[in-house]
Amino acid sequence: MTATPAETLRRRIADRSALVGVIGLGYVGLPLALSFVEGGFTVLGFDVDPAKTAAIARGESYIKHLDGGRLTAAVASGRLAATTDFARLAEPDAILICVPTPLTPQREPDMTYVVGSAREVAQRLRPSQLVVLESTTYPGTTDELVRGILERTGRRCGEDFFLAFSPEREDPGRKDFTTTTTPKVVGGVDRLSGDLAEALYAQVVTRTVRVSSARAAEASKLTENIFRAVNIALVNELKIVYEKMGIDVWEVLDAAATKPFGFMRFNPGPGWGGHCIPLDPFYLSWKAREFGVAPKFIELAGEVNVAMPRYVVDKLAAALNDRGRALKGARVLILGLAYKKDIDDPRESPAFEVIHMLLERGAVVSYHDPHIARAPHMRAWPHLPPMVSVPLDAATLAGSDAVVIVTDHSAVDYELVLAHAPLVVDTRGRLRDPHPKVVKA
Ligand SMILES: NC(=O)c1ccc[n+]([C@@H]2O[C@H](COP(=O)([O-])OP(=O)(O)OC[C@H]3O[C@@H](n4cnc5c(N)ncnc54)[C@H](O)[C@@H]3O)[C@@H](O)[C@H]2O)c1
Repeated sequence: MTATPAETLRRRIADRSALVGVIGLGYVGLPLALSFVEGGFTVLGFDVDPAKTAAIARGESYIKHLDGGRLTAAVASGRLAATTDFARLAEPDAILICVPTPLTPQREPDMTYVVGSAREVAQRLRPSQLVVLESTTYPGTTDELVRGILERTGRRCGEDFFLAFSPEREDPGRKDFTTTTTPKVVGGVDRLSGDLAEALYAQVVTRTVRVSSARAAEASKLTENIFRAVNIALVNELKIVYEKMGIDVWEVLDAAATKPFGFMRFNPGPGWGGHCIPLDPFYLSWKAREFGVAPKFIELAGEVNVAMPRYVVDKLAAALNDRGRALKGARVLILGLAYKKDIDDPRESPAFEVIHMLLERGAVVSYHDPHIARAPHMRAWPHLPPMVSVPLDAATLAGSDAVVIVTDHSAVDYELVLAHAPLVVDTRGRLRDPHPKVVKA
C-alpha cells in the first residue's frame, strides 16, 4: 500500500531526511535555517538577494550578531546551501516563509512579499509538501490568502499539501534565549497540517506550543508585539508626566521593578523602532476594521511613541538655550543609529526622525554607531544626506555642542563622552547620576 502524503512527510520529519526550505534569509530566516541544520536537517535557503546567497556559499554571516562560526560550520557540513533559483522550490519537503511584512505608506499591510513567495511555491507545489508562514501578519493570512494561492493549483490543503503558521519570536542580540530555546507557537490551517508542522519544529526546538488554528497563532504573535508597543508608550508617557513633577522616571522604574509579581518592566526611550513593534500592531487594526472594530490602544500607543523624537529634540533645544546657544547651527552628535543597543539593525530607528528634525531646525548633525559604519538610505527619510559614522574620540566630542544618546550601545565609552562633550542628552537612562552636563530626555 502506498503511503499517504502525510505519512510520507511524517516519516521524513521523524528521521530528519526531510529537506527544509527557507524563503527569505534575513534576521529571521538565517538563524532559523541554522537551527534546522544544527538539529540534523539539510536546509536549502531561497532569497532574491544574490549577495546573501553568495555570502552563505562562502560561509560568511551578513548578520553581525549571528556567530559567523555557526554559518561556516553549517556550510562546511554540506547541509546548508542557498539559492536564488526558485525553480528549486520543488525540492524541499517543508518550506518556511520568512519574508518581510512591511506597511504601505498608507499604513496598511503590504503583502507583496508573502503573496510573491506563495505564488513561487504554488508554481512547483507537489504532494506531501508542508508550507509554514513565519512572517508576522494579520489573523487570516495563512488560511485565506496563502491557502487560496496554493489551492488554485487544484491541490487540497490537509490532503495533498499541508499549511500552518508559526510565528518567529527572534529577538536580535538576545543571548539568554535562542531560536531553539524559545517556545515555538504552531497553528495549522487544519488539524493534520498543525500536527505535521508541530512534529517538524519539535525536532529542533525545546518546546512547541500548539494552538487550535493558524489564526490563533497569527493573533498570538500580534498580541506579543501590541503588548510591547502599548507598554513602551505607557512608560514614555510616564516619563513626560514625572519629569514635569520633578521625579526621575528611571528611579521610579527601578523601584517598581522590585515588585516580584504583577509588574513587568519596560523602559522609556526616544520613540520606538525595529521591524516589528512600530509596524505589526497596525496589521491588527487594519484587519479589525473588516469586523467593524477599531482598537484604541494601538492607535494611542502609536500617537505617544511617534511623538517621542520631538520631545527629545525639544529637550535638546531647551538645554542648548539654557547654555546661550541656538539649535540652529549647533553641532549635534547622535550616539547610536540602530533601533536598540548592541545590534546593527537601523530599521525604523527613531534616530532617523531625530536627525531629520534636527536638520530641519538648522543643526549640523553627525553620528557615531560602532555597529553601523554607513547610514543606509531609508525609504521613510529619502531626503536625509548620506552619513558615515564619525570616530568617537575626545576631539570629536569636544568639537560638538551636544551629544544625544539615542541608542545606548555597550561598546561606547560613556566616561569619555561625559569627560569631553559639553552637553549630553540621554534618552536611555544610561547616565543616571545627576551631572551638570547631562539632561535626561
Ligand atoms: N527581525 C526580527 O527581529 C523579527 C522578529 C520576529 C518576526 N519578524 C518577522 O519576520 C519576517 C521577516 O523579517 P526579517 O527581520 O527577517 O526581515 P529581513 O528583511 O531581515 O529578511 C527578509 C529576507 O527576505 C528576502 N526577500 C525579500 N523578498 C523575497 C522574496 N520574494 N523571496 C525570497 N526572499 C525574499 C530579503 O532579501 C531578506 O533577505 C517579517 O514578517 C518580520 O515582521 C522579524
